[in-house]
Amino acid sequence: MARFTLPRDIYHGEGALEALKSFTGKKAMICVGGGSMKRFGFLDKVEAYLKEAGMEVKLFEGIEPDPSVETVMRGAEEMLKFEPDWIVAIGGGSPIDAAKAMWIKYEYPDITFEDMCKVFGIPPLRKKAHFCAISSTSGTATEVTAFSIITDYEKGIKYPIADFEITPDVAIVDPELAETMPQKLVAHTGMDAMTHAIEAYVSTANCDFTDPLALHAIEMIQTDLIPSYNGDMEKRHSMHHAQCLAGMAFSNALLGIVHSMAHKTGAAFADYGAHIIHGAANAMYLPKVIAFNAKDETAKKRYGKIADFMKLGGSTDEEKVDLLIKYLRGMNDELNIPHCIKNYGADSYPTEEGFVPEEVFLERLPEVAKNAIGDACTGSNPRIPTQEEMEKLLKCCYYDTEVDF
Ligand SMILES: NC(=O)c1ccc[n+]([C@@H]2O[C@H](COP(=O)([O-])OP(=O)(O)OC[C@H]3O[C@@H](n4cnc5c(N)ncnc54)[C@H](O)[C@@H]3O)[C@@H](O)[C@H]2O)c1
Ligand SMILES: [Zn+2]
Repeated sequence: MARFTLPRDIYHGEGALEALKSFTGKKAMICVGGGSMKRFGFLDKVEAYLKEAGMEVKLFEGIEPDPSVETVMRGAEEMLKFEPDWIVAIGGGSPIDAAKAMWIKYEYPDITFEDMCKVFGIPPLRKKAHFCAISSTSGTATEVTAFSIITDYEKGIKYPIADFEITPDVAIVDPELAETMPQKLVAHTGMDAMTHAIEAYVSTANCDFTDPLALHAIEMIQTDLIPSYNGDMEKRHSMHHAQCLAGMAFSNALLGIVHSMAHKTGAAFADYGAHIIHGAANAMYLPKVIAFNAKDETAKKRYGKIADFMKLGGSTDEEKVDLLIKYLRGMNDELNIPHCIKNYGADSYPTEEGFVPEEVFLERLPEVAKNAIGDACTGSNPRIPTQEEMEKLLKCCYYDTEVDF
């Protein structure tokens, strides 16, 4: 038996934010990040609509990018004091993910962070509050997913919390919110979405319900991401929907080792100023992982189908895989994303000498590889790498060398 879970309601299209006016409840806690939602007037709108719905509203502001365990605990304390029956999270993946984890701690104040991270081990929620997620970036699709990514900065590791219990009750996918994204964010979140769709399609947990969502998302991202990056607002809107479709797919089909590697390298070199942004990490690692996974016959065929769907040409599956890898690398070039960690420079742009020194990378490699294998996303990857293979793969991601194993 398999399960396919999505939010009960997904309000989408321009003006979708107004759906908040029809919510019923007494108290809503709005969780938000550092200021972009306030600056562009979206936060005021959310507050006004919830008040129009007759609710008392309180803000929890200042959730940082890649939220920490400490932020989650602070937010849950505020919730315990205010006792909301709606949690409304607005922003990118960071504030929405933090709010999901706060929600768990609010419903179960005695739960530890360690317990939250037990895969599909969250007890039933919704005894105290329902959850609405409003996404302002076009990538994580956390507004429809069963995941939340929280960083333990002491350990330098990102931990995924995974359970259908934290799939939001309501998702609002209003493309107007995505218009204000800076170019770099469009690039990173867009390649994150592309990775979600491709990993979901080749995941060992793929199914008839997830495949069409993944393929349609891939097609939309192929045509819309680069123009959206270059300022085409119609395509920007379309990307906001595409990333959500990719999210519906991967929330149910799960992901693969591109994400395992991104999670475990993201904060591993933070002490060298190299916080490897999630979407950029995925964009760099995806072509390498495709070459690695394509040694598995089933995965190779599936990548071939993706290439067919993208109309990339090629007559054998090997050729199609090569064309897919080439195409994705071309997207990175158009989006100004480097091909490897060695060239990962300031603001994530390509540079000759990146942030992560070679000797530091090599010294930390065994530990990073071990952590990546242990990541929750590894289990559904078509090929399970050994420690040696993961180290080799990560080296290819550092030096941009060919994956031939
Ligand atoms: N839960 C999931 O399923 C899932 C999936 C993938 C990634 N993630 C996690 O999500 C986080 C990344 O989320 P993200 O990429 O959405 O970015 P983010 O939420 O970290 O936001 C990045 C920056 O963009 C700004 N911003 C957000 N929306 C904006 C807008 N419309 N206009 C202008 N500025 C805006 C924010 O203020 C912030 O400074 C990572 O922690 C990643 O691990 C979660
Ligand atoms: Zn992702």
